[in-house]
Amino acid sequence: MSIARSLKDADGVDLAFYKDLHPPLSDFKSDILDGLSRPQKSISPKYLYDRAGSALFDEITRQPEYYPTRTELALLDTLGAQLTALAGPGAVVIEPGAGSSIKVRKLIDALDHPACYVGMDISGEHVKAACASLSADYPRLPVGAVCHDFTAPLEMAALDLPPGKRIIFFPGSTIGNFDLSDALGVLKNFHSWLRPGDALFIGADLRKDASILEAAYDDAARITAAFNYNLVRRINRELDGSLNLDRLTYKAHWNPYRSRVEMFLVATQDQCFTVAGKTFTLRESETIHTENSHKFTPGTFIDLAARAGFISKQVWVHEKTPYSLHWLECCEKT
Ligand code: AVJ
Repeated sequence: MSIARSLKDADGVDLAFYKDLHPPLSDFKSDILDGLSRPQKSISPKYLYDRAGSALFDEITRQPEYYPTRTELALLDTLGAQLTALAGPGAVVIEPGAGSSIKVRKLIDALDHPACYVGMDISGEHVKAACASLSADYPRLPVGAVCHDFTAPLEMAALDLPPGKRIIFFPGSTIGNFDLSDALGVLKNFHSWLRPGDALFIGADLRKDASILEAAYDDAARITAAFNYNLVRRINRELDGSLNLDRLTYKAHWNPYRSRVEMFLVATQDQCFTVAGKTFTLRESETIHTENSHKFTPGTFIDLAARAGFISKQVWVHEKTPYSLHWLECCEKT
């Protein structure tokens, strides 16, 4: 497979390569039934991001209270020459959970003749579309797409990458969505894709006043609430559920002990409901935990990355709104 040559596949998508590593489909029904059967009812945040949910998330990023996206973009804008120097010429950029985002364009614009870009996402359709749009904007950059779950191992030799320095780009503080042990697992997995001297360029949101955090995750326009209600609608639609949205509300809570914003659906009245034929009850003020967003200090994040085998080369923190970007170098495997 030659990365220099561009292939048009049947959909007319202009990509250097497309590899489907067939990530196992998660089982929506059994995951939801499991989560609702626990003493603390919970649902994995990954189910928030169906088509409607992803559109609502985009809308969240445009809310005045939701600072992470615009803060990270502003910070990225200040780094140009430093990124050019850290990456060197001919870098290979790998983006797990690739969006059609303008963030990676800012990175690519800063790089000296990058050798290629590889987008990766659990949805083949999504990653193909995102990579095709990037390829259209950067006609001389070879762009490859990989359908893969970035939390799962990956044999990098299978991707047949050019030899340049590898840079994994993981913006948005997506790492904060994972429990700390899972976050460590994700960082270790990324580490296994790299060779000594390669880098992980990653965004990590920082601790700040509870009032700012709680507003960011419960905006006045109630878009984050709608994002959570969409999950209830999805369960009702796809799993023949009978959750009553009129008896649910949404709340975000800063938990300083675990250093994370916790997001919940909250019952405003008792209700009995069924999902896929199983019966559940919710008592007034009982919660369904839908998502966490961990917040770090530069030090706690560097320590976590160190446990995965990375050393901190450079940290940038936005001067007004605490948010960090980290250039982490892969050390020798121990
Ligand atoms: C996509 C996980 C980075 O934690 O800030 C935002 C998700 N959920 N508002 C975050 C989210 C509700 C977001 N991440």
